[in-house]
Amino acid sequence: MKDRPIILRFWLVLAAAVLLSSALAAGTLSFDKAEYAGRRAKFMEKIPDGVAVILGAQPLTSYHHYYQNNDFLYLCGVEIPNSVLVIDGVQKQTILLYTANERSLRNEGLSTDILKDPPGVTGVDRVLPIEELTNFLGRLAGQTKVIYTPFEPEELMRECSLEKFRYLQRSMILNPWDGRQTREGQFVNLLRQKFPNVEVRDCSPFIWELRTIKSPAEIEAMRRAARIGVKAISEVMKATRPGMYEYELAALYEYVAKKEGAQDLAYYIVMSSGENHPYVHYYKHDRLLKDGDFIVLDIGPDVNYYDTDITISYPVNGKFTARQKEVYEAAKAVHDASIAVYRPGLTTEQVKNEVDEILKKQGFDLTKDYFKRMRGGFGHYVGLAVHDVGGGPMVLKPGMVFANEPLMIFPEENLGVRVEDTILIIETGSEVLTAGIPRKVKEIEAFMKKDGIPQVLKKKY
Ligand code: GLY
Ligand code: MN
Ligand code: MN
Repeated sequence: MKDRPIILRFWLVLAAAVLLSSALAAGTLSFDKAEYAGRRAKFMEKIPDGVAVILGAQPLTSYHHYYQNNDFLYLCGVEIPNSVLVIDGVQKQTILLYTANERSLRNEGLSTDILKDPPGVTGVDRVLPIEELTNFLGRLAGQTKVIYTPFEPEELMRECSLEKFRYLQRSMILNPWDGRQTREGQFVNLLRQKFPNVEVRDCSPFIWELRTIKSPAEIEAMRRAARIGVKAISEVMKATRPGMYEYELAALYEYVAKKEGAQDLAYYIVMSSGENHPYVHYYKHDRLLKDGDFIVLDIGPDVNYYDTDITISYPVNGKFTARQKEVYEAAKAVHDASIAVYRPGLTTEQVKNEVDEILKKQGFDLTKDYFKRMRGGFGHYVGLAVHDVGGGPMVLKPGMVFANEPLMIFPEENLGVRVEDTILIIETGSEVLTAGIPRKVKEIEAFMKKDGIPQVLKKKY
């Protein structure tokens, strides 16, 4: 009788340890291998006349753990540094080139299960050591007329490919005092030099087209990212008080997001208050928050490489002034009206027109300066990147995920407001993936009366 609690405790500890180890022992792939095979099959249809060679990400030179680039990850899910993925649209097969051993995988925190049965674990047809790449490409060039490869720069954690390319053009490619190519541009040049009889074509648009429509498995991952984002940003709202520094809020966000299961942040935390409102992506987190300030927080976690995009706007002291309420409710009206109209088949122009009709019916004066500056509609796709690939859609389709992000800025008043959620288009309309944040003025004011984590800790210690 006496030792029963000890035995019970032993079993509880054991059960907890087993649960924890199964949670930590993730396999090589985030999704079932059939998910990636399905994506590759669709990609193969787009390259029926050639073979795609896709470079995986190299390790970072900073002390940061490895992340795969998004296009490579999308097509095979493997996170081994310096891998190369070959997708043959003619023979309909996939070859993965990499070199890894138990030590190199464990060092990156990666599963070692790929070592036992690479095709079985990954679903690719064949694997080769990366040291074979030169011979492999030589043989390939003798067999195929077309080699496809992504021309766009690889998208790494917290990066957005299109913006990255524009930035690299200015700072590097077209800079007369630099002139380097991107890694991809260099690879294209080398392929053309070494294999002049082969045509080298861009396959970025094909991968990106697939990425714009999310599969059920991706949607589930994005729901998880959204839940974590909602929880973390709500905790930050609740904790905000005059007298705090913005960096305290940034640290709290990161703590809650990681505690809830985020692997990283989708983008560096954007926070503007006071005189920083005009700088829409203000990153420095350096202001002391004062009574009367209004703050815009734009933050999202990354979960298994999938991002979510959320912005909240609220008074630092938890009580809206009449002017803050006016502009906030105008932005929220645009946000809500957009959600009410989103449905498959609508163009972004039609969304804007229908939103205007709703706002007029609600009595809003659309001639107001701030309505002219910003209406609802479509911000940008969200997915493996926060400004995900694909540009703006012409027509909404089920499976698209994007940001609804009306924004209004009044520099002369030290005021700005943005109401942003991540939206999924479904057959019957839309689903707000990031639902659950206090959004109404009264809800925000009531929510901010509660103690946040710093206030609870202060009372306790
Ligand atoms: N999170 C970046 C943006 O909304 O533009
Ligand atoms: Mn955002
Ligand atoms: Mn956004």
